[in-house]
Amino acid sequence: MPSSPIVADLRSDTLTKPTPGMREAMAAAEVGDDVYGEDPTVNALEQHVADLLGHEAGLFTPTGSLANMLGVRLLVEPGQELICDTLAHVVRAELGGHGALGGITTRTVPSPRGRMDAEALLATAAPDAGPYLVSTTAIAVENTHNFGGGTVQPVEQLRRLREGATALGIAVHLDGARLWNAHVATGVPLAEYGALSDTVSVCLSKGLGAPVGSVLVSSAERIARARILRKRYGAGMRQVGILAAAGRYALDHQLTRLAEDHAHARSIAEAVAEVLPSAVDPDDVETNIVVLDLTASGRSGADVAAAAREHGVLVSALGPWMVRAVTHLDLDDEAAAGAARVLAKVLSS
Ligand SMILES: Cc1ncc(COP(=O)(O)O)c(C=O)c1O
Repeated sequence: MPSSPIVADLRSDTLTKPTPGMREAMAAAEVGDDVYGEDPTVNALEQHVADLLGHEAGLFTPTGSLANMLGVRLLVEPGQELICDTLAHVVRAELGGHGALGGITTRTVPSPRGRMDAEALLATAAPDAGPYLVSTTAIAVENTHNFGGGTVQPVEQLRRLREGATALGIAVHLDGARLWNAHVATGVPLAEYGALSDTVSVCLSKGLGAPVGSVLVSSAERIARARILRKRYGAGMRQVGILAAAGRYALDHQLTRLAEDHAHARSIAEAVAEVLPSAVDPDDVETNIVVLDLTASGRSGADVAAAAREHGVLVSALGPWMVRAVTHLDLDDEAAAGAARVLAKVLSS
């Protein structure tokens, strides 16, 4: 445990606690059995998120990983291939679920800081590859990009990917766990992002601050198939309107405030860049994630995370020479300033 009281827990934006208004909305939620399709709060949330993203239908899932697994599985049959980037959450942090449970294979292309390269993704795809090679049927993109440092994918790149994928006859899945952050950072309408993908997963439990829940959106036909797969994977849920109410509250009350998280992340990056410019360029910090590259400092991620912890600031060591700090709803201006001071102090010593 840290020797100082916790100033800021920046390990993830999943650590937030439900706000009082959210708890009230949860307590008041009308519920029913969702496996029977009878939970009015879940049904309304699913349709609301589908409408926001310009898709026909939605499916509430307990996690973003499951929403991704279902979204990808709708586009890729067992024995077929998904292309994505080397740092993508779908290949790095879903514990092989797409292969183990979905039977799909993946190939990856490099993505510096998680920034997608539409031409490279398209050039790697091998649709209708015949009897000897695996056929690609979908490409996945992540927006914003988690391990890349909250990187926003440029909308022109997403348009180019959509156009190229359509020409190749393959589909696009968007891992939009933090699509809300991209929308708030750029002003690009959610429906525009939605229109550029066949399936989209979004999380309610990251920056939005709900305790649990994600939504997968797509066509009504695909979502009907996903509903069956979700039950098969053991995630048919019952009176989960209580949780859906938290997600709806987050969308109605805690979406635009993501801009505060972005400002906090930038201020942390600026403080670090002053003492260790090689670690981060504050201009690269577009949303709520700051990834610090410690290579030039000779300090390991674990060492820096341990030193920051001593001063009450918790960050994640992402790799041997990297740490990640994520800003969120439970971090106010004072805590963000304190965290910036501590990280600058740790990295200058
Ligand atoms: C980009 C991205 N996609 C998907 C997920 C999966 O979400 P969950 O932890 O709810 O499974 C995460 C979680 O951090 C994420 O960062």
